[in-house]
Amino acid sequence: MTARTSDIEKAAGVLRAGGLVAFPTETVYGLGANAQDSAAVARVFQVKGRPPSHPLIVHIGGVEHLGDWVEDVPATARLLGERFWPGPLTLVLRRGRRVPLEATGGLETVAVRVPDHPVALALLSAFGGGVAAPSANRFGSVSPTTADHVRAELGDAVDYVLDGGPCEVGVESTIVDATGDVPSVLRPGGVTREDLEAVLGCPLTVPSTSRVRVPGQHPSHYAPRARVVLVEPEKVVAEAELAQELGHRVGVFLPPSLAGAPVKAHAVVAVPASMAAYARGLYGFLRELDQQGCDLIVASLPVEEGLGLAIANRLRRAAGPRPS
Ligand code: TXA
Ligand code: MG
Repeated sequence: MTARTSDIEKAAGVLRAGGLVAFPTETVYGLGANAQDSAAVARVFQVKGRPPSHPLIVHIGGVEHLGDWVEDVPATARLLGERFWPGPLTLVLRRGRRVPLEATGGLETVAVRVPDHPVALALLSAFGGGVAAPSANRFGSVSPTTADHVRAELGDAVDYVLDGGPCEVGVESTIVDATGDVPSVLRPGGVTREDLEAVLGCPLTVPSTSRVRVPGQHPSHYAPRARVVLVEPEKVVAEAELAQELGHRVGVFLPPSLAGAPVKAHAVVAVPASMAAYARGLYGFLRELDQQGCDLIVASLPVEEGLGLAIANRLRRAAGPRPS
């Protein structure tokens, strides 16, 4: 069920009182606090189990408010904000004085975005300030794309959950460092590199997964409980069946090129051929295979263009080495 006006008012009141509100965005659900309330922001870290050095994103209601939250708005940042907001793009800029260091993990830069979701925009408008929010999951695990995911994972630790239905985009925002002369992508996401390059008129650097530049990021992130193994698409079935024979409970991400192929495994997800549908479903698929009791997920990477870049980034990091 989607949030009503009275729910939005209630959520804005919770934020004003220093509480935490989980809310829908077009990418994933966020765990929000008043961005200017250091104590509320500290609770976000506590509830997520997230190291305090790992900065949050400040969500604002429109590009016209950007100047309130950052030291200055370089021309490139203005261009990107005007073109892609509201939308799945986060800009990293120099921190404005009203942003507490708690929200930026002690950094002199701040990440800002305008989410493209009617419930998020209504909340930001009713609240009137900025909402600092990471994805509403425990640190390192899979981001929630429905209100039920949030309730299942965070339960009573959140003061209020706004339900806006399933998220349309399904993977997090693209993070662009716009502090320097040449913008760079810190995390691929819902706005494609191709779309950014078309607007900027220049090629962008994108980090390789092995050399993560976003502060505080761990190689294993966006990870389900089950271990994730990545193989070439044509080897998915053989790899899955071998692991199943060896006693694993195997979940398979069956690539579209093998649609309908029989697989002897514990559970099978048919990967959608459309990248938009794959991105929308990705985190739900991972959660579903966990729920079915799989201990191993065999998947392959999509072609790394368009939304495929963000999907491949999340799959690589889900398959990355786990903290011991
Ligand atoms: O789509 C999204 O971005 C979602 C929704 C809720 O807006 N939010 C999200 O937040 O994914 P989170 O906290 O899970 O990821 C935010 C990322 C982190 O990897 C963090 O390191 C990076 O943004 N970040 C935040 N502030 C930064 C800064 N000042 N410099 C560089 N990276 C920053
Ligand atoms: Mg997250």
